Amino acid sequence: DGGTLLAGRHLLVTSGPTHEPIDPVRYLANRSSGKQGHAIAAAAAAAGARVTLVSGPVTLPDPLGVTVVRIETAREMLAAVEAALPADIAVFAAAVADWRPANLGDEKIKKGPDGPPPLGLVENPDILATIARRREGRPPLVVGFAAETTEVIAHARAKIARKGCDLIVANDVSTATGVMGGDRNSVHLIGRDGSLETWPVLPKDEVARRLVVRLAALTTTP
Ligand code: C5P
Repeated sequence: DGGTLLAGRHLLVTSGPTHEPIDPVRYLANRSSGKQGHAIAAAAAAAGARVTLVSGPVTLPDPLGVTVVRIETAREMLAAVEAALPADIAVFAAAVADWRPANLGDEKIKKGPDGPPPLGLVENPDILATIARRREGRPPLVVGFAAETTEVIAHARAKIARKGCDLIVANDVSTATGVMGGDRNSVHLIGRDGSLETWPVLPKDEVARRLVVRLAALTTTP
């Protein structure tokens, strides 16, 4: 239990996948259980923070003591995040779909003799980059996640610069690790200054507790 480590602080967390409708009955999505993001929200609330959790569709219960905003699409997630600002700390753990189907019709696409319909895609907003690059109202500490299957650390280092965030939590989600959908996680913390810290394989709620301790330290002025 984190006690009062984050008392008085507002922490914003995104979690889960986004669902991007193709038609009223079909969607495009990323694979994400929401376990790590929800665990971070729960740990921050246990540490005394006011927590807003913006979550895509997941099967997890709402964490105790957390304000949960449920959304489906990336654009709804960005709007909910912006509505929840200001925040002292923002943690972007959601697996946001990078693209959404274009030309969304109101009707179910019917199977026909012409074969599958062409699925045109358009780019979704990058929520992490949008918030990290805000001129006004940028949370003082912005944390991104990087789910990679190869060269985890190199990709995370590039990502921190590209997105403009302060810290990246990088994890190896190649199928052999069992991280995806599982209860354990193996993470590296990569700082803006190039610092690297590798944590042992831990339960996702222990990763969350340790991360909360780190976030508190990074936002406390000595
Ligand atoms: O570029 P990539 O998707 O690998 O970056 C992952 C990080 O960016 C995560 O923190 C994720 O929540 C965030 N992200 C986002 N909006 C997107 C894509 C990723 O906030 N459209």
